Amino acid sequence: MGTPTGARILIMALLELKNLHVALEDGTEIVKGVDLAVNTNETHAVMGPNGSGKSTLAYALMGHPAYEITEGELLLDGEDLTQMEADRRAQNGLFLAFQYPHAVPGVTVTSFMRSAINAVRKAKAGEDDPIPIPEFRQELMAAMEQLKVPREMASRYLNEGFSGGEKKRVEILQMAMLKPRIAVLDETDSGLDIDALKIVAGGVKDLVGPNMGAIVITHYQRILNYIDPDYVHVFVDGRIVEEGGPELAHKLEAEGYEAFTPALAAGGGE
Ligand SMILES: Nc1ncnc2c1ncn2[C@@H]1O[C@H](COP(=O)(O)OP(=O)(O)OP(=O)(O)O)[C@@H](O)[C@H]1O
Ligand SMILES: [Mg+2]
Repeated sequence: MGTPTGARILIMALLELKNLHVALEDGTEIVKGVDLAVNTNETHAVMGPNGSGKSTLAYALMGHPAYEITEGELLLDGEDLTQMEADRRAQNGLFLAFQYPHAVPGVTVTSFMRSAINAVRKAKAGEDDPIPIPEFRQELMAAMEQLKVPREMASRYLNEGFSGGEKKRVEILQMAMLKPRIAVLDETDSGLDIDALKIVAGGVKDLVGPNMGAIVITHYQRILNYIDPDYVHVFVDGRIVEEGGPELAHKLEAEGYEAFTPALAAGGGE
C-alpha cells in the first residue's frame, strides 16, 4: 500500500490511516475502514462515485466536529491526531482545500491568511512570532502572481461573492502560503476553466516535493494529466477498493465505477 520499496517498512509514513472508520453524528458509518499512507513527495489521487464518502474522509482528517472517527488510527509523524482539534491539526501541517469553501464575511483574504500563518508560526515557536508584514506581502504577491489571482482579491472578504473558480484558486493560494506538509484537495478542479485548471494543477505540482505530499480527490482524470499522481485509489462505499498508478484513472474515465459497484451494475446509484 503506497510502499513500492521495502525501505518504507522501516520508515513510518508521514500520514497514516489505519483501518479508519468515520461516522456521522447520528452514528451512520460513512467511512468503513481505510488504510492509506502518504509521504512527502507523493501525490495520491482518490476517485469515487458521488456520496461514497470522500469528503467525509477529508473532513475527518481535518477534525471537523460533525465527523467522528469511531475506529482505527490516524497518525501524523507517528502522532495520534484523533483527539486533536482542527486548528492543532493545521498547525501540525495538515491542510484541507474544501469542496465548498465557506464565505467569511468581514475578514479579508489578506488578514485571514496572515492570521493562519501566524497561528502556525506561534505553534512552532511556542510564542507569538508574527510574520513581518513586508515579508508576508512579498510572499502573498508572489503566490498570487503565480496562481494568477487578481491583486484586488487580496482585499476582498474571503469567498464572499467569489465565483466558483475564484474560490478554488484562493484555496490553493492559502495552501501555497501555509506550506502544509500534507494537503488534502477536495475537488479543487471542479468548476475551474481550462486555463485555471492548468494554473492550479501546476501550483499543486510545484508544491508537492520534499516538504509536502498531497491527497487529490477528483472526479476527472483531466487534472491528473497536470498533477502526475503517483497512486490512484478507487473509493467506493466508504472503502478503497482498488489501487494503482495513473493508468487506473484512465480506466475509470473510460469505464466508470461499474466494475467496482455491484449496485450500480444492477441499476442503482445515481
Ligand atoms: N453532515 C452530514 N449530515 C448528513 N449526511 C451526511 C453529512 N455528511 C455526509 N453525509 C452523507 O454521507 C455520504 C457521503 O458524503 P460525502 O460528501 O462524503 O461524499 P463524496 O464521496 O464526497 O461525494 P461527492 O463526490 O458528491 O462529493 C452521503 O450520503 C452524504 O449525504
Ligand atoms: Mg465530496
